[in-house]
Amino acid sequence: MEIQGATVLLTGANGGLGLAIARAFKARGANLIITGRRPDALEPVAAELGAEAIIADLSDRDQLEDLITRAGKVDVLVANAALPSSGELLEYTEEQIDRALDVNLRAPIMLSRRLAPAMVEAGRGHLVLIGSISGKATSAASSLYNATKFGLRGFALGFREDLHGSGVGVSIVQPGFVRDAGMFADTGSPVPGGFRTVSPEQVAKATIEAVTKNRAETNVAPLEMRVLSAIAGQFPAFSARVQRRSLKEGAMDQFLEAQKSKR
Ligand SMILES: NC(=O)c1ccc[n+]([C@@H]2O[C@H](COP(=O)([O-])OP(=O)(O)OC[C@H]3O[C@@H](n4cnc5c(N)ncnc54)[C@H](OP(=O)(O)O)[C@@H]3O)[C@@H](O)[C@H]2O)c1
Repeated sequence: MEIQGATVLLTGANGGLGLAIARAFKARGANLIITGRRPDALEPVAAELGAEAIIADLSDRDQLEDLITRAGKVDVLVANAALPSSGELLEYTEEQIDRALDVNLRAPIMLSRRLAPAMVEAGRGHLVLIGSISGKATSAASSLYNATKFGLRGFALGFREDLHGSGVGVSIVQPGFVRDAGMFADTGSPVPGGFRTVSPEQVAKATIEAVTKNRAETNVAPLEMRVLSAIAGQFPAFSARVQRRSLKEGAMDQFLEAQKSKR
């Protein structure tokens, strides 16, 4: 669908990728409604982009409801906000597990459920869910993140079929490791396994194209990661063996430690 003049609701807009996505939609002439938890981080972005800012904690059901009401009719949803949810599950409290599921999976599903009817009625709209290559391939110390991102991929592709022919598209955009900004870059960690990275702008471009070209699934990652994640999807036990052998001891320690505060 055409982005010029469309109303776009973007979650996690002050985050590393969110900011790049917001700027890309603004450059295409979208009217932006942006959301995040922290007013001090969100308001400068709203001022830069002439966007409406709505503060909402997506793990709080009342605040999610308030966001949906205040956003009103939107043409495009970009469900981008997420928690890193990294580390071993046995270290997680029940409350932390609930928060990861609520922010990464329940909120995008509920936003889609609640915003799609008006799009279907108009015969025009698009839902973009920002997933991850971790929605295709598992890795150690990622079970919760894997669960939410595999779930998001299943939801996006399934709901896309429900809406087929309605004029409303659904896309999943799945980045690999992103440099310069975002939940991985913020840790300052080297990339485990020495994989190449992508930029926030590449993710933003893919998000725009998901809408304009009605893409089902886009993997924003270097070729080797796209190939390996496809193999891992088919042969998970083989992939796990390869990862166990090839990842150096402690390769993930720095980013796992840095992301602990975001549980
Ligand atoms: N960065 C990567 O390497 C990478 C790779 C693959 C996929 N992804 C995906 O890309 C998306 C964006 O990630 P990012 O790297 O930009 O992450 P980020 O920099 O950590 O930003 C996350 C955003 O989510 C928001 N958020 C977190 N918890 C929230 C809550 N309870 N309620 C409302 N908003 C909440 C944050 O808002 P506050 O700042 O207010 O907390 C922030 O705006 C995510 O879906 C992530 O899984 C990222």
